Order: sequence, then structure tokens, then C-alpha cells
Amino acid sequence: MRLDPINLYEYEARAQQVLPHNAWDFIDAGAMDEVTTRRNRTAFDALSLRPRFLRDVSNRDISTTVMGDKISLPVMLAPCGSHMLAHPEGELATARGAGMSDTTMILSTPSNYTIEEVAEAASNPLWFQLYHRGFDLSENLVHRAEEAGYTVLCLTVDTPASSPKERDVRNRFARVGDEANFRDLGGSATRPRGAGPNRSGSLPMTWKELEWLRSLSSMPLVLKGIRTAEDAHLAVEHGVDGIFVSNHGGRQMDMTMSAIETLPEIVVAVQGRAEVYLDSGVRRGSDVIKALALGAKAVAIGRPFYWGLAVDGAEGVHGVLEILREEIDRAMAFCGQTNIRELESGLVNIPHGWGAGTTAP
Ligand code: FNR
Repeated sequence: MRLDPINLYEYEARAQQVLPHNAWDFIDAGAMDEVTTRRNRTAFDALSLRPRFLRDVSNRDISTTVMGDKISLPVMLAPCGSHMLAHPEGELATARGAGMSDTTMILSTPSNYTIEEVAEAASNPLWFQLYHRGFDLSENLVHRAEEAGYTVLCLTVDTPASSPKERDVRNRFARVGDEANFRDLGGSATRPRGAGPNRSGSLPMTWKELEWLRSLSSMPLVLKGIRTAEDAHLAVEHGVDGIFVSNHGGRQMDMTMSAIETLPEIVVAVQGRAEVYLDSGVRRGSDVIKALALGAKAVAIGRPFYWGLAVDGAEGVHGVLEILREEIDRAMAFCGQTNIRELESGLVNIPHGWGAGTTAP
């Protein structure tokens, strides 16, 4: 009898066994020397918790809200493309797994199933992640997401240029079939069908265009990939509702700080004017407590849900989330905490020199 995985690393090992080599590399790889990807882990490991005892922690609540949506644990599924690489049911299975654990999935623009198909499979609130590839295209996707009932628009800002991972280049890896959301536009993600004279083509998105993006829907706007206090300041000045502190799992730009190291300066810059979330490197319940103790409202996982998906489809995604739920709950008990929304300050020892980044005017 095969025993169920007992932690996320066992899901990872099994996923590597079942996935084709090139699909594994695509999911696992980081940019260039993968220093930032590794740093996402070593930075979490460098933080330690300060346990508190002799308190009544028999009733613990780890549910929270993200942009007003209730989630049963402070872990969402990060927007990631091409889930069919891990399982034939792709994003449909991921959405079902999120539903089984009562949390939110963020659907990526380059998905194998459409915005509408995933909405049908989901039983929980969904967010839509936008890659801006042209104004007509963005407008179309945002309208479709809102009509399909997605509750939040999440614009990924940290990919100003493409960043092929060297393992994919070596493998001559080509993603196929991740253009589901562009099918009815008669084009692909890289060939938007421009219509309006001023809005056509793939003009870059800058701070100036955020107002236009906000005007397209009534969904709250979250920026994903903010890495400095300076950009966090600009984001709140431009009225965004949330900030995802993320370095894309180290997949876009190597040699940056880890996301968790960047979190403190961003929380200081935001001063409660927007919700702050974090992804990149979360693998343990204690990582979740660390991020929340440093000011994040919730976190997201990327690679780990592919591992669950590869091992056991929707059940595997659910399995990964339930392991995290148990670990978070146990870490809460050991830290003397009963409510994840009101974690005490001082739960984390921050290594000397952390948070030394600028906090900008
Ligand atoms: C991603 N990520 C990502 N982000 C995004 O905004 N849009 C996308 O389409 C994708 N696609 C994608 C594919 C794959 C295979 C991975 C692993 C990741 C980044 C993702 O949202 C998230 O930031 C990281 O995955 C978080 O780091 P961990 O949890 O993988 O360490």
C-alpha cells in the first residue's frame, strides 16, 4: 500500500517521479542561476519563531478574508499557467481542489481552460490574473472575468520582458495549448487583435494606465510582483486595493531578494492602506505564520499545487492545502495564538540587517 505524502516535499518528490522531464523542469525552474529561487527558501529558514506557552489555545481559528472573500486558511493558489502540464483536467481540477479546501484560486491569463470553464468548476471565489498583452485584449479579458463572477483583478507587473528559463531553453521546451483565453479573439497571447486606433497593439502598461484598467470593472485591483517600498508607495498612491509581494518564485529575474525579506519594507510603506499578500517559497505552515506575523494578510503557493495536481489531480491539490492547514494550526498552538487575523507582534526573530531597504518618501 502506498502511503499518503506527509509533507509538501513528499508531494514534490512524487511529482518529479510522475511528470515528464521537460514538464518537471518547466514547473521547477528558476531564472538564470536560480539563486533567487533558492533564496526564497533560505530566507524563510533564517527566520525563527518565538513560541509562547501557558495560554488557552484549545480553540484556534485560521480562517481569514482576502478582499472581503472568506477563506478557511490563509493560503491561496497563486496564478500559474498551463496546469495541463501536471494533469489532464488542468485548471478545472485545481479549482475543485481549492473548493474542497475552501480557499481561493487565482486563474492565470495563459491557462489551458477558459475563464468561463474554470468559473463553472469552482465553488469558491476566484481571482483573475492579467498579463497585459494589449489594450483590447486586456479589456476583453477583464470584462469576461467580471461577467463570469471573478471577484478580484490581479495584474502581474513583474514581467516587462520575457525570461526563458535556461532549463527550458536547453530542453527546447514549448508550451502548447495555453491559449484557451484567447481562442475566441482569433489570436494568441503574443498576437493581440488590435481594434481601436489608440488602444490597439501591445503598448506597455505603466502607472499611467492603471486608472484605465480600474475603470474597466468594479473588481478590486491587486498588483502582483511589487518588490520595493518605492513601488509600494506608488501603488497605494494610485489607489490599488492590494499588493502581492512576490518575485514570481524566482522565475523571472535572478539576483533579487527573497519575497519574505522584502515584505517588512513594503508593509511599512503601505501603512494599512492596501491588503498585502506574499508568495514565493512558502512550503510549511510555519512559513505562513512568519509571513502573516510580518504583516501579510495571506500567502499563496505556486509549485506545490502543481505537485499535488501531478500526484492526484484535485485530490492532490486538496491534500497539499490540508497539510498546510494542519501545520499552520499546530504552529499557532505553539506560538500561543488563537486567531490568525490577530497575530501578536514579536512572534518572529528577524535576522540582523533585514528590512534595511529604503522606505522612500
Ligand atoms: C508561475 N507564476 C505565474 N505568475 C503569474 O502571475 N502568472 C503566470 O501565468 C504564472 N505562471 C507560472 C507558472 C509556473 C509553472 C510557476 C511555478 C509559477 C508565478 C506564481 O504565481 C508564483 O508567484 C510563484 O509560483 C510563487 O512561488 P512558489 O510558491 O512556486 O515558490
